[in-house]
Amino acid sequence: MTGGHLQIVVCGAGPAADVIQLVKAAQRRSWTAAVTATPSAMDFIDPQPIESLTGHPVRSTYQSSPGTRRSLPATNALVIAPATYNSINKIALGLADNYAMTSVAELIGRQVPTVIVPFVNAALAARAPFRHAVASLRGEGVRVLLGPEDQWEPHPPGSGNERQEAFPWTVAFETAAQLAHGSRPAASGHA
Ligand SMILES: Cc1cc2nc3c(=O)[nH]c(=O)nc-3n(C[C@H](O)[C@H](O)[C@H](O)COP(=O)(O)O)c2cc1C
Repeated sequence: MTGGHLQIVVCGAGPAADVIQLVKAAQRRSWTAAVTATPSAMDFIDPQPIESLTGHPVRSTYQSSPGTRRSLPATNALVIAPATYNSINKIALGLADNYAMTSVAELIGRQVPTVIVPFVNAALAARAPFRHAVASLRGEGVRVLLGPEDQWEPHPPGSGNERQEAFPWTVAFETAAQLAHGSRPAASGHA
């Protein structure tokens, strides 16, 4: 029995290299998962093991690989992790300038339960555009894991490498699964 389908969107920050941990957390709970990457994130990840484990190509562009379905299974939850300063600001503004951002825009619009886990340093997190973006996304019903209550704080500038190992992959999945509980699956979004 499957628990649901998790759509993962990964952005260009250090923890992207470990996104397979989120896939494994989902699969431990009998969920399926697929990974979409921003163009920048492709420099941080190794798609092959992710594709082997999920059974889905890692999508970064509108072009699908030959022989694969253009659309993904119906999505029960979306996790954007690690979410960069850049992408968080774009998502809040509704910008859709790459495949990953277009998917996110549509899935949030379809009210798919969504969790964002930022990986930003304290200097970036202090910027007004970022603070407004987080508040705006929360106002739209998106769960942004950030702040003392989530035990996930921006790190001091220059300390990202040390913080990478603490990235809360399991909490991200559990939060998404909780949000999805009772929600009806929505179609996958932009293919
Ligand atoms: C090695 C490296 C590490 C980076 N780490 C971060 C980071 O931790 N957080 C962040 O917001 N941006 C980070 N960036 C900058 C983003 O990759 C950059 O803003 C990029 O445009 C993000 O694109 P995306 O949001 O489409 O993934 C890093 C860049 C490089 C080259």
